[in-house]
Amino acid sequence: MLRLSPRIAHIAPFYAMEVVKQAAALQAEGRDIVQMSIGEPDFTAIPAVVEALQRATREGKTQYTEAVGIAPLREAIAGFYRTRFGVGVDPSRIIVTAGASGALMLACTALVDVGAQVLMPDPTYPANRHIVTAAGGEPVLIPAGPEDRFQLSADHIRRHWTARTAGVIVASPSNPTGTSIAPHALAELVEEVRRRDGFTIVDEIYLGLSYEGDRRSALALGDDLIIVNSFSKYFHMTGWRLGWLVVPQQLVPAFEKLAQNLVICASAPAQHAALACFLPESLDIFETRKEAFRQRRDYLLPELERLGLCVPVKPDGAFYIYSDIRAHASDSASFAQRLLHEAGVCAVPGLDFGSAETAAYLRFSYATDLARLQEAVARMSKMLG
Ligand SMILES: Cc1ncc(COP(=O)(O)O)c(C=O)c1O
Repeated sequence: MLRLSPRIAHIAPFYAMEVVKQAAALQAEGRDIVQMSIGEPDFTAIPAVVEALQRATREGKTQYTEAVGIAPLREAIAGFYRTRFGVGVDPSRIIVTAGASGALMLACTALVDVGAQVLMPDPTYPANRHIVTAAGGEPVLIPAGPEDRFQLSADHIRRHWTARTAGVIVASPSNPTGTSIAPHALAELVEEVRRRDGFTIVDEIYLGLSYEGDRRSALALGDDLIIVNSFSKYFHMTGWRLGWLVVPQQLVPAFEKLAQNLVICASAPAQHAALACFLPESLDIFETRKEAFRQRRDYLLPELERLGLCVPVKPDGAFYIYSDIRAHASDSASFAQRLLHEAGVCAVPGLDFGSAETAAYLRFSYATDLARLQEAVARMSKMLG
């Protein structure tokens, strides 16, 4: 009998996938289901990227690349930080990865020692805690409610840091709440971690999809942060498996040797294709699509509130709304089942994202076109009276 590593027991299945599977089964029976569970843009890769992919494959650019990614892409990403976020970064600090997932795995393998604790908010993107576990560490989820915008604060660091804590992972804007950490609060948090010689990983996968104020990258807070980003969300390339890390200069050799051994490189054709993302006309399309997401949020948010699905913190980014369902039910998992079976609306119960208050929340994704969101609202109105 083959034995699994005991750490596998600490990795929970993704409950959202169960709901999605049930929705697919209902659809196979002919039911019309409005999908509001999926964490991926309904838009797909832009034509310029698809054409660049075709060109790259025709030209045989399909072989292994440098482990840290092709130089033109690392330069283009550095240019993007300069022009979009007003922050300079040496391209040599950028490591191209297989999505933000690959970036988080590389970062945790490099930074998390066996038994080390890593602090993160509850609710959090589920893979974060499992990636820490897979690296041999111990994720420590800290309840973060509406008063904290569902994010970690400097105070959390002061109260929960132990001799075993190695660092912190935050995502801003966050999945599942769509809320970001205010710049001054993030600066204070980083300072607390820095004082303790810990690492701060800031997942900025949704930074491009920020709807309020200036988009500011945490990169500006210092050269010692680990920044995660991806082509999946703002650039609409989920299945292409491409993302990046920005790491402190002195850590580049360690990350490079890990990347060489663990993955060799990120997809070569995807890297060549992604260069087209940074053309001015491509960036215009991404901004137009971002505006479409903002419109959907501005439609859906008041409608959910009207239905008694209260949203305690206005999401300022990503494509998620985290609704408090307590006016209607006490358990979001069974409420999600009711929504699916009675209204034909598929949303994700909080349960995947932690354990603190997650039974009270449901995550709605608005990565679905406006007409479908209107249909979902009409159906939920009917169900909830
Ligand atoms: C906060 C966050 N980080 C990372 C990821 C992983 O993204 P990818 O590996 O597609 O870049 C996701 C995906 O939903 C996410 O929501």
